[in-house]
Amino acid sequence: MRQLIAGNWKMHGRLKDVAGFAAALGAAPAHIDLLVCPPFPLLVPFATALAGTAIALGAQDCHARPEGAHTGDVAAPLIREAGATYVILGHSERRADHGETNADIAAKTSAALSAGLTPIICVGETEAERDAGQAEDIVRSQLMHSLPPGFAGVVAYEPIWAIGTGRTPSVTDIATMHATIRAALTTQLGPTGATTRILYGGSVKPANAAALLALPNVGGALIGGASLAAADFLAIAASAPRG
Ligand code: PGA
Repeated sequence: MRQLIAGNWKMHGRLKDVAGFAAALGAAPAHIDLLVCPPFPLLVPFATALAGTAIALGAQDCHARPEGAHTGDVAAPLIREAGATYVILGHSERRADHGETNADIAAKTSAALSAGLTPIICVGETEAERDAGQAEDIVRSQLMHSLPPGFAGVVAYEPIWAIGTGRTPSVTDIATMHATIRAALTTQLGPTGATTRILYGGSVKPANAAALLALPNVGGALIGGASLAAADFLAIAASAPRG
């Protein structure tokens, strides 16, 4: 399967950055699927700038309701209307900053699916949980409670201690966790779980991408910091194996 190389811009980026970044992505390799997830106000300008290209656009969150009195939130149907086809849900920064629970994420995921968006559900353990030997149990539990019945989308394994730190798990630990996630998805989702893309995220850089993306059950990457520079983002994409 083609790998998905996704950039999570988090709370970075300005309107002035969009045209140049989109133009630089014209050099994207054709053997992968490329996705940019900027802050909400950049979705429409990015959709315009990327029109006619194969590069996909995603949001970083959505509300569980399709509309209503929810000040400051953004509904999945509007995200779809803005030109996005993906939405990242349950990122550890949202779980931490906004107290999002697995149940919240499951509800948002259902809303995303109803709106025609492909959800990317983030899971991952803290360093203390890994040190205590609980990483796989934590991730299995997050999957069990964050994915609604009938889930069809992407899962991203992002160990919290690897996000923005320059540290990554060993390739053995990543391969083990991705095998665990594959087994859990197959149990939960049946045949869909056997083909669900499982991304790795957390300090992916041009220097480590080839080794990480070559691992079994790694179907791409979710990239924070290194997705902000088009050259680094494209270098990571170029290092993905052909599916
Ligand atoms: P990072 O972030 O690549 O900067 O570690 C990854 C993420 O949080 O999605």
